[in-house]
Amino acid sequence: MTTILEKTRSLFADLGVSTDREIQELFRQLIELADTEHKKVITDPEREEFRVRWLGRNDSIRARVKRNWLENAPKEMRRWVGSSFNYFSEHIETGYSYIKFAAEILEADRPEDLSLPGVLRPVGSHHLIRQVFQEIEDIFFSIGFSVVEGPEIETPYYNFEALNIPEFHPVRDDMDTFYLELPKGAPTPLLLRTHTSPMQIRTMEKQKPPVRVIVPGKVYRRDNPDATHSFAFHQIEGLAVDTDITFCDFTGTIEYFVQQFFGPTVKTRFRPSYFPFTEPSVEFDVSCPFCGGTGASNGGTCSKCKGAAWIELFGAGMVDPAVYGFVNYDAKKVSGFAFGIGIDRMAMLKYGIDDIQVFFQNDVRFLRQFP
Ligand code: FA5
Repeated sequence: MTTILEKTRSLFADLGVSTDREIQELFRQLIELADTEHKKVITDPEREEFRVRWLGRNDSIRARVKRNWLENAPKEMRRWVGSSFNYFSEHIETGYSYIKFAAEILEADRPEDLSLPGVLRPVGSHHLIRQVFQEIEDIFFSIGFSVVEGPEIETPYYNFEALNIPEFHPVRDDMDTFYLELPKGAPTPLLLRTHTSPMQIRTMEKQKPPVRVIVPGKVYRRDNPDATHSFAFHQIEGLAVDTDITFCDFTGTIEYFVQQFFGPTVKTRFRPSYFPFTEPSVEFDVSCPFCGGTGASNGGTCSKCKGAAWIELFGAGMVDPAVYGFVNYDAKKVSGFAFGIGIDRMAMLKYGIDDIQVFFQNDVRFLRQFP
């Protein structure tokens, strides 16, 4: 007599069944066989063998039944074969999921060896640059600034033109930087921003005065790496615009910030400088925090300020009225100031680090010094 297993190798027409009841009987026998085998499964390999034999993708019993019976049944009987097949298929799957679940429970219940050493998961810390960002943000929060962030991929319009740096302006030479390769017909070139100043424009486009924001972020330039230069570094932009902001507000704010950051004994000074988007423009210096602004250290010349007693900090200025034209502000009614602080150099100054490259090397011996 042909066994039920052998019948799974026959095509439906050769089974000699013609009624719904006969079809159900075939599937009942198959389920009985599966249940008998199912009860004998104990080990992991047996479980896997059961799965492959009954449920595997290509040559399992289920795959065969589907191919030989279901797909070969005459149209008028396919509905009966289909519903019996679905019942059979779900039955085997459920049976298999039970033995799988039981194995997982057994695994979880395995007694633990409490004498084993625990798993040590070292907790990292914020990178020093992140910490300095936070220090600076806190200082500006305390005087009413809020934080906004902007895209690192910019259009030349925001990075240059709207900041009063037209094409072919010599200032662009310093910032000639990383342009992205774009598909033909792209509406505008794109570049990695060279400073956080584009966010001055984006902020003023969105918001009417009063504006008081700082913008922390990463910027990119085609600068060769050395002790004080990196091709990727960090800045915080600051922008304050209102109807009555004066040069005194500007210098007062900067002095307050510098004293909070470096301590009350440092002094600041500013020198004339040039940026196309500020007028007047200045460069802020701080009295050297390493030699107390004397230029001398340990009987010799201070190595940090090279005897100058001052260290250059960052560029800033009163917003150039031409910039207001790009954001539909009335230059006759509003005034304001902006600054762009190089965070890496601020961190180097404050924490006595003499090579900017250590910020990017991620050497844990360095990182651990700033928990
Ligand atoms: C600017 O980037 C202006 N956007 C700043 C500004 C903003 C002026 C608002 C006026 C108003 P500058 O190119 O000087 O300016 O860069 C600002 C600071 O970034 C520098 O003082 C320096 O601390 C830092 N910096 C510049 N180039 C590098 C570099 N390659 N690596 C590390 N830090 C750098």
